[in-house]
Amino acid sequence: MQAVIIAGGLGTRLRPLTFNRPKALVPLLNRAQVLHILDRLPKEIDEVLVAVNYMFDRVRDFFREADVGRTVQVIEEPTPLGTGGAVKNVAARLHGTFAVYNGDVIDSLDFTKFLAFHRRRGGPATLALYEVPDPSAFGVVGMEGSRVTRFVEKPAPGEAPSRLINAGHYLFEPEVLDEIPAGREVSMEREVFPALAARSLHGFPFDGYWSDAGTLEGYLNATRILLANGGAAVHPRAKLAKARLDGAVLVPEGAEVSGRLGPDVVLGPRSRVDSATVSNSVLLDGASIEAGAVVRGSIIGEDSSVGPGATVEDSIIGDGVRVRKARRVIQERMA
Ligand code: GDD
Ligand code: MG
Repeated sequence: MQAVIIAGGLGTRLRPLTFNRPKALVPLLNRAQVLHILDRLPKEIDEVLVAVNYMFDRVRDFFREADVGRTVQVIEEPTPLGTGGAVKNVAARLHGTFAVYNGDVIDSLDFTKFLAFHRRRGGPATLALYEVPDPSAFGVVGMEGSRVTRFVEKPAPGEAPSRLINAGHYLFEPEVLDEIPAGREVSMEREVFPALAARSLHGFPFDGYWSDAGTLEGYLNATRILLANGGAAVHPRAKLAKARLDGAVLVPEGAEVSGRLGPDVVLGPRSRVDSATVSNSVLLDGASIEAGAVVRGSIIGEDSSVGPGATVEDSIIGDGVRVRKARRVIQERMA
């Protein structure tokens, strides 16, 4: 069976990191985000098509080098075609029932159960659904039994039909491709699903964990989830002098820590935490946090540094940035 990974968006909500890399290659636990999606695909998916517009070359080159144990084709979309148009753009390569995955979701969906449900219902399309406390930033469904009768993308306050959201995984029969207009930008969520909901669309709710890693909050949540599900580790050759580790952390070989770390912290290779405090945050390769600094709820880009006594909170610091001594950076996107 084939799967299409739609991974071509601009990743605006992870800027400035996505100025320098496509969202699919933003590291999660020190591996490109898209690899976590491939990890979760079952054996029956023997061919993966990655649909990319933004930074196509980077994604293509990445898959030339990466060995992911199955056929991966990276397909260029010369102009962005939206989530529906991206699938239509690869239509000629698809045959039989196929899966479509948003490229930025980390979750515990059981594909085998999802596929069995899709086959039992026998409809043209099935969406995986997940319940969240606040659905307003997502696609939200109204259900009657197992049928999705309404689909509202990013509903205005008070207009969400439920708290069940589109988890970003679909199973489609080839006839769905006929519902997507060719040659222009098409939103799956704003055009195709509302039209299908009026005729035949099924929903498969699942529980466990789910996070969209395309925002700072979602990215840190995905990090926490992956750490809690086997990703936490301290490499025996990491340099830990007077380090205090608390809760789930990932410290790879080549990282150096002499401060307080955790919970929920990932250090990149070559990163360094002096006698500073870092919690609920991710340091990319070569980032350093100097003495007395405090980093919370943030991502620190490659080779960036947070100076002595500085505070960085709820922020994304880009690559090669220096946060000066004693400076406070709160809820910022620094490039
Ligand atoms: N190839 C291609 N071309 N990919 C695109 C394009 C495009 O023009 N636009 C977006 N994508 C990719 C993104 O890279 C991402 O992997 C996926 O499509 C979804 O786009 P996002 O921009 O991340 O959408 P969202 O998170 O706001 O909402 C979507 O995901 C939610 C779940 O995470 C929708 O599908 C919602 O309905 C859903 O609830
Ligand atoms: Mg997203």
